[in-house]
Amino acid sequence: MTKEKMSGKQRVLSGVQPSGSLTIGNYLGALRQWVEEQYRYESYFCVVDMHAITVPHDPAQLAEKTREVAALYIACGIDPDEATIFVQSHIPAHAELAWILNCVTPVGWLNRMTQFKEKAARQQQESVSTGLFDYPVLMAADILLYQAHRVPVGDDQRQHLELTRDIAQRFNHLYGQTFVIPEAMIRGTAARVMGLDDPTKKMSKSETDSQYHAVYLLDSPDLARKKIMRAKTDSGKDIRFSDDPERAGVNNLLQIFEVLSGMESREAIEAHFEGKGYGHLKSEVADLVLETLAPIQERYRKIQNEPGYLDSILARGAERAGAIAEKTLREVQKRVGFLPRQ
Ligand code: TYM
Repeated sequence: MTKEKMSGKQRVLSGVQPSGSLTIGNYLGALRQWVEEQYRYESYFCVVDMHAITVPHDPAQLAEKTREVAALYIACGIDPDEATIFVQSHIPAHAELAWILNCVTPVGWLNRMTQFKEKAARQQQESVSTGLFDYPVLMAADILLYQAHRVPVGDDQRQHLELTRDIAQRFNHLYGQTFVIPEAMIRGTAARVMGLDDPTKKMSKSETDSQYHAVYLLDSPDLARKKIMRAKTDSGKDIRFSDDPERAGVNNLLQIFEVLSGMESREAIEAHFEGKGYGHLKSEVADLVLETLAPIQERYRKIQNEPGYLDSILARGAERAGAIAEKTLREVQKRVGFLPRQ
């Protein structure tokens, strides 16, 4: 009997690219949800290193960042005894399933992906890789291999999740019921944390133009506070939630405050800041962010100081994840008509 059947729990899968240092955007949009929901689901969290090579990258840094991201999963509160933590490239089935899914995914579907267009626009046209274009199919493979019911992500992954569902449905239609159709889990607040230096742009771990763009999970308290105190706001005074693009900076700070303070309503938060200035808002947000980062950094340092610990988690994770992935892959190979190896 599979673990899922024994536990009766639905499955969750999600991942982060080791393409930079994790930001509070990654934490608020994704990791915090993973931690909160990990005991309700049978959880799989992977470090998607194969996705990280779809844009130019530094090979000397990739392995290091892969370990850093995995350690941060645990430092943020993922329980490695409960959830399966693994590295995508350790499981060859991801690439193998991606190939098969490529063959059921119309090019027109990939042409619609806005994240590809944005990322491609930042590079020389001739150097944009086929891998970057195909990135969403590999992501579909990540999810479908584990028959995940739920995928907790930030708002920027919504379109990729829709595509994953379309690919799964098409495969099921062509070859018979094979894949669970996954659903995105996207929070209402802080699902798209904006850049502190420019609140019209999503906060991103791969942004390198400005040192005041993002708070990283491993930033020192002083640096994190400085970045928040410098966050771009507007010339107004009112501290209110708002969809007005002019007021995106304040709205962004308020959303971070909402999630981290746990205050029950937006009215209560607005009342809390009544008559106070933006400087006050920033300083309260900084206090909450620092309170959040302190235990994460402490656990991170402990993990770093325990030789072999992380490697053993990743080895066990690869074993558990590999068993499930292999099973799905065999089923898919059979359905498309590949001759089984004797
Ligand atoms: P990545 O590495 O860009 O981001 C990891 C997670 O963090 C969320 N996120 C944000 N949430 C709120 N505000 C932000 N500013 C912000 N920036 C990032 C992302 O939505 C994501 O949940 N394609 C994925 C990685 C991936 C994946 C998967 C995710 C590969 N395979 C399978 C889920 C399932 C990505 O690039 O995430």
